[in-house]
Amino acid sequence: MKARRPTFSFEDAQAFWVPEMPAYGHNLNGGSLTLPYLEPYLIQVLKQARDRLQESNPDLVRDIDVFSRQEANHFRAHAAYNRVLRRQYEGIEEFEAEIRADFESFLEDRSLEWNLAYCDGFESIGLISGELFFGPMAGVLETADPQVRGLWEWHLAEEIEHRNVCHDVLKALYPGWRTRISGFRYARHHLQGFGNRVMRHLLAQDEAAGRLPKDRRSRLRRRLVAARAAAFALPRNLWVLAPGYGPARRVEGPTVEAGLARSEV
Ligand SMILES: [Fe+2]
Ligand SMILES: [Fe+2]
Repeated sequence: MKARRPTFSFEDAQAFWVPEMPAYGHNLNGGSLTLPYLEPYLIQVLKQARDRLQESNPDLVRDIDVFSRQEANHFRAHAAYNRVLRRQYEGIEEFEAEIRADFESFLEDRSLEWNLAYCDGFESIGLISGELFFGPMAGVLETADPQVRGLWEWHLAEEIEHRNVCHDVLKALYPGWRTRISGFRYARHHLQGFGNRVMRHLLAQDEAAGRLPKDRRSRLRRRLVAARAAAFALPRNLWVLAPGYGPARRVEGPTVEAGLARSEV
């Protein structure tokens, strides 16, 4: 595990970046808006946990350090991309202010246990998003904007690579199943709700601008890909709920390894 820092030029990037499946692209756009606030929050929470693990678990402390460097690189790249979103769509700043306030209040008002469970929940979602990206969504991404696709390819490959760090930290400090499950459920509800609202907001502007492909063939293809993605994600979401869940047991696979290799600079 290591931190990579590929460079991106978003000068000509399109925020309408998955023309074959605009809703999927906009869902990730919603995710991108959270990251300049969510990933610094992860780093802060793990910093508090790190102090408690310093003596007892030096290997995990090393993992936390690499994890934090990866997340710091991610949110800076997403902050640069989010400027494209702000340029090309209206009403982005309100969403950013909302999510920023959420993470500020989590840090201020919630316990380390609650925050670590949220972080683990987010990382479980990130792993499934990564597997979807490199799995059933690979076809619709072939025609996607190459810079934005490259951003997510690097980010999600590293999410898969560091998939077990938050889980191991939570297990080391607060091993209860109920804590982990409530963190996962809260994070899912919070982030999916936000992502879906951003998606609808962006799609409405695409609709008004006449950008959405409406022919029968593309509608059918979108429905098929969405059904495949849902069937792929369901057992993975259920597995997170199992008491024996362990993300370290997931294999990275050749497409993820290729994504990591392309991100080496
Ligand atoms: Fe990340
Ligand atoms: Fe992560």
